Amino acid sequence: MYAAAEQNVAMDLAWPTIISEAVFEEADQYRDTLINIIERAASRAGVSGQTGRLPELTMRPELVGIRKDLPREWWTFVLKSIQAHLAAVRPGLYPIGSKQVSELWPNIHRIGEFHAPHFHSFERSVLVGTYYVGVPEVRSELEACLALMDPRGRISASAEYNKFHGASEYIVQPVPGKLVLFPPHVVHYVYPHRSTTAVRYSISFNVSKAALAGGTGSADF
Ligand SMILES: [Fe+2]
Repeated sequence: MYAAAEQNVAMDLAWPTIISEAVFEEADQYRDTLINIIERAASRAGVSGQTGRLPELTMRPELVGIRKDLPREWWTFVLKSIQAHLAAVRPGLYPIGSKQVSELWPNIHRIGEFHAPHFHSFERSVLVGTYYVGVPEVRSELEACLALMDPRGRISASAEYNKFHGASEYIVQPVPGKLVLFPPHVVHYVYPHRSTTAVRYSISFNVSKAALAGGTGSADF
């Protein structure tokens, strides 16, 4: 609850959408390792790209199996970022361990590939994360970007409204080493890119509601 100074007015925040972005400082050091892990898994699964992000493709055992190969330093960064995000949403909870990342999978976008608008299951997720491993050079503003859509629906249609209450899309630039975290109900999609030589690699995950049990356990791997 917020109290406006010198006024007898009580204020509150309803339906806040907390989005966080964190940067893995050792990203350069681990980039090639992560790309190799993703490419090896994709080749075992017989997958070359992921246009539209079909769930049955994303959840192939060969792809979700990469979690055991990911470096401990990467996990440490991700878990600390999740913990900071959850503490901002609901102070006083957690620590979190890798078991609370209930699902994790790689994404490979080659030229022209995209993810169609979707949200993540509320049963399986209290928080969604995406980490950017490698990103192609782009020639126009939105190529390869992640777009998060306004969860308030279609009300924010006018420029005047947007100036006061915020734009209807939140665009995330996919910089290698960046981790973005957002609530699962936010509809999101990925723009395609036009690079013929480079590939967009990312790792996405769901944090399960077990993370909200809070206060027990330690940061396990
Ligand atoms: Fe998603």
